[in-house]
Amino acid sequence: IVDIKGGPDEGLNRLGETLVVRGWVRTLRVQSSVTFIEVNDGSCLSNMQCVMGSDAEGYDQVESGVISTGASVWIRGIIVGSQGSKQKVELKVDKLVTLNLGTTVAKLFVRFGNEKGYCIKKSIHVGKSDPSFPIQKKRVSREFLRTKAHLRPRTNTFGAVSRVRNALAYATHKFFQENGFIWLSSPIITASDCEGAGEQFCVTTLVPNSREATDSPVNAIPKTKDGLIDWSQDFFGKPAFLTVSGQLNAETYATALSDVYTFGPTFRAENSNTSRHLAEFWMIEPELAFADLEDDMACATAYLQYVVQHILENCKEDMDFFNTWVEKGIINRLSDVAEKSFVQLTYTDAVELLLKAKKKFDFVSVDVVTVQHGCKVTWGCDLQSEHERYITEEAFGGCPDIKAFYMRQNDDGRTVAAMDMLVPRVGELMGGSQREERLEYLEQRLDELKLNKESYWWYLELRRYGSVPHAGFGLGFERLVQFATGIDNIRDAIPFPRAPGSAEF
Ligand code: 4AD
Ligand code: MG
Repeated sequence: IVDIKGGPDEGLNRLGETLVVRGWVRTLRVQSSVTFIEVNDGSCLSNMQCVMGSDAEGYDQVESGVISTGASVWIRGIIVGSQGSKQKVELKVDKLVTLNLGTTVAKLFVRFGNEKGYCIKKSIHVGKSDPSFPIQKKRVSREFLRTKAHLRPRTNTFGAVSRVRNALAYATHKFFQENGFIWLSSPIITASDCEGAGEQFCVTTLVPNSREATDSPVNAIPKTKDGLIDWSQDFFGKPAFLTVSGQLNAETYATALSDVYTFGPTFRAENSNTSRHLAEFWMIEPELAFADLEDDMACATAYLQYVVQHILENCKEDMDFFNTWVEKGIINRLSDVAEKSFVQLTYTDAVELLLKAKKKFDFVSVDVVTVQHGCKVTWGCDLQSEHERYITEEAFGGCPDIKAFYMRQNDDGRTVAAMDMLVPRVGELMGGSQREERLEYLEQRLDELKLNKESYWWYLELRRYGSVPHAGFGLGFERLVQFATGIDNIRDAIPFPRAPGSAEF
């Protein structure tokens, strides 16, 4: 609500003041002597109840039916104490202006208007909602709202998710800034595949200026005589991709500026239609110089506790909403995260735990990911979401996933210094590791994985010149939003989700 920071309760200190509210009508109730208009401007969950008598300027707009659910309005009034039980203050309206001049309004003018442009008969359309507005007051499914991504921020749930997401981003910068980290913009277009999983979106260029000359953009990709892509003619002169992780770039800066972090969009062409995978997601990747895995885990824990504490303190109204409507008990669960220590579990112990509960994981799993990979638990396998769920929800702790080339080899020669942080409901929230800072080990790993050493020449040089022990982790920001709000599908944790087959809006 404009000018009342901290929600309408603050208005109690401002009784008698004049206030302007600009927002969207949530509900409209017309009674014989007064009209109640609930307006929300997105700044908080509560609506401002505006009470309008027939003597207020602009009352004709109520009478004519121009103003209805979803309409945008400018309302001026005086803050007064409310007799209703839902709110402490309300606005006694002295002037209302309807701002939207869309087609519905125009239609209403035509159907009900007199020569002045509005209807003076009280009985017509008064107090009704606009029947064509896609989001009516009744509860609608989140699945349906995904098809209305342009209007869903006007609902309670998405308003609250947006504000908590914003608070988490703010707390993220605050945490790292307060701890001496320097924020780094890692590139979105890159030639290297950090995770080596081949899940990159390729960026090719159209031949300059040839766009208009062709019907199909595909025809404009430079090709050789054999019909293959001619990379030498391409914009970057070689294949380029959307980044899957800013880690390698962060390592570069960590070995010059000490602790750094990235916070930006990353992309994965994973064909996983699950409730925790997106094709475009935001990642936070701190990289700690002169640090080992223990330091990395300590940082990850402190970070999570800090941001959780921040939203519990600063997003009370929205968190109460999630606690009531989305996930009962989420506030208690998050308070535990903020206060209690985390369970640490080695990979070997995690596998042992799963083997003891083996029956559950012998291909009878209903989890799509598990079935696809057909992964029976054996030592050395990458743990799947079904296993993570068992560990976090039925057992407790954590277990790292498969070894990437950059992870530091442990002295046992068969494990690496890596960690995942798993949380209930979401599973893997972060993945991190101590990086291999020893040149010969790194070269050996690249060979083992048949990765092209030449394309990592600059990364190898970081080991040749002034190498230091360093470690970091990556946290999927939308998974954090899921965890913090209880929203069960990751597509509802980002404004405009990108997933297989969906890139609208
Ligand atoms: O475990 P990942 O693949 O690790 C890395 O990318 C490392 N380079 C990070 C580092 O050490 N700097 O991804 C890190 C996190 C995961 O734990 C998960 O939270 C999130 O990114 N993530 C995804 N989130 C949404 N959709 C996807 N498709 C995701 N893939 C990974
Ligand atoms: Mg991972």
